[in-house]
Amino acid sequence: MKSTSDYLVIGSGIAGLSFALKVAEKGTVALVTKREVSTTATNLAQGGIASVFLQEDTFDSHVEDTMKAGAWLADESVVRMVVENGPKAIQDLIDWGVEFSRRADNSFDLTKEGGHSKRRIFHAKDATGREIERALVEAVSQHPNIRLYEQHCAVDLITEAKVIGKKKTDSNRCLGAYVLDTRTEKISYFQARVTVLATGGCGKVYLYTTNPDTATGDGIAMAYRAGASVMNMEFMQFHPTALYHPHAKSFLISEAVRGEGGILRRGDGTAFMSDYHELKDLAPRDVVARAIDNEMKTTGEDCVFLDLSSKSTDFIKDRFPTIYENCLKFGIDITREMIPVVPAAHYLCGGIKVDLWGETDLANLFAIGEVACTGVHGANRLASNSLLEGVVFADRAAQRAIERHEQVWKPAPKIQSWDTGSATDSNDEVVVSHNWDEIRRAMWNYVGIVRSSKRLERALRRIKMIKEECDDYYWNFFVTSDLLELRNIVTVAELIVRSALSRQESRGLHYTVDYPEPDECLSQQATRLNIQYGG
Ligand code: SIN
Repeated sequence: MKSTSDYLVIGSGIAGLSFALKVAEKGTVALVTKREVSTTATNLAQGGIASVFLQEDTFDSHVEDTMKAGAWLADESVVRMVVENGPKAIQDLIDWGVEFSRRADNSFDLTKEGGHSKRRIFHAKDATGREIERALVEAVSQHPNIRLYEQHCAVDLITEAKVIGKKKTDSNRCLGAYVLDTRTEKISYFQARVTVLATGGCGKVYLYTTNPDTATGDGIAMAYRAGASVMNMEFMQFHPTALYHPHAKSFLISEAVRGEGGILRRGDGTAFMSDYHELKDLAPRDVVARAIDNEMKTTGEDCVFLDLSSKSTDFIKDRFPTIYENCLKFGIDITREMIPVVPAAHYLCGGIKVDLWGETDLANLFAIGEVACTGVHGANRLASNSLLEGVVFADRAAQRAIERHEQVWKPAPKIQSWDTGSATDSNDEVVVSHNWDEIRRAMWNYVGIVRSSKRLERALRRIKMIKEECDDYYWNFFVTSDLLELRNIVTVAELIVRSALSRQESRGLHYTVDYPEPDECLSQQATRLNIQYGG
């Protein structure tokens, strides 16, 4: 079976959906997503989307906060472009039907999070992503030019070089992707003039994460295998406050809780963030996550606590209904009790290298949203900048993709159907789940918030072993979505470790005891230090 469309979009979070809506005005779109359409990180986003709005706020101030949080590794021209497009991005979302929280006088209720010097975060109570996803899915499902394929898992990108059978051609380009229908277990090809990766991040590479189960780094791994450049993979952001409870599956406690007055405390009730940063509980995320890690190591306790008792019960229930209800399910009444919290993997600041238009260095392939490295986040993402980046880059990528689509198209060579070769049914699927578990534990233990060269080397040795087993499995057995995800996770884990080993300084989210200070010479040469791999 094959599908042909003008645009192929892989992923259904804020970036993929808003891109699809923009290009659907000009052509047909196949929108492929691994599970149900709303099983995305966007849907879980609580805090909000940052954009300058108030009279007393300025673009310069948002740019400066972003650069500071990113430990001066972000690309200032890209940051400025994104920040200045913020008001338009908010208006686009409103036009698509998103309803942000408002005050009694109907003005927007802007909130604050760590690292922001002004209130500039639009939110929908504490479930902003759910509201955005709801509105965009509704718009997409009504669009006659968009065909949605749920339960479809991308296997690999199809490139001209691969189809023609050459190792390198000077005219390599992306022609679409092989995709597994997980209900029928059949692989077909989706051909398109423009392919867009909007597959999100890779939090599942770590044992504890705030991400959905789908965050297995698929887009990064596929792009890397196809020969596109990947950069800044060492900068995995750990959210400081995931709920600590054996059955909670790393439920996020939004940074907006601290933005509205929540205080981090030790088990004995003492506040500790003033020991670490002048902004205390609203210090940038990397600082807060490292502080909590240090507190847990020093006190030997399994978690720290977030105290919201300075706020009234009515305020808490109205402003944080999702967090309130969810914690109550686990027996914690946040209007009276402190919330036990720990850090968890949350957001990848690196990814597929793209330009100001979301174009990768493989022709006809775009990457937008968390899967891409645009230069906005540098070494650490400022809270609530990711939804903003997703909409702004989707818009720009759509403009450029439409131009590309209108250019003269050299006919594509004939794409072969997926060949299963001599693959058979696996009789040992437990190998896949054991390897999943092993890699996530190794990453958590050796490639976490505080790193060392020795631990990174140890992780790399384990990853290489698992990679060999995984490749063997991939070539000998019919592919399943579990196997595809494991293969992608192994690839991404290796990229993270190799990147971390090559950054011989501590900066933003990458902290290593072997090089505990930032190296100012490296900061001058930051872009040259960024790692790029060609497949
Ligand atoms: C949060 O609500 O703390 C998450 C927001 C973000 O990651 O930007």
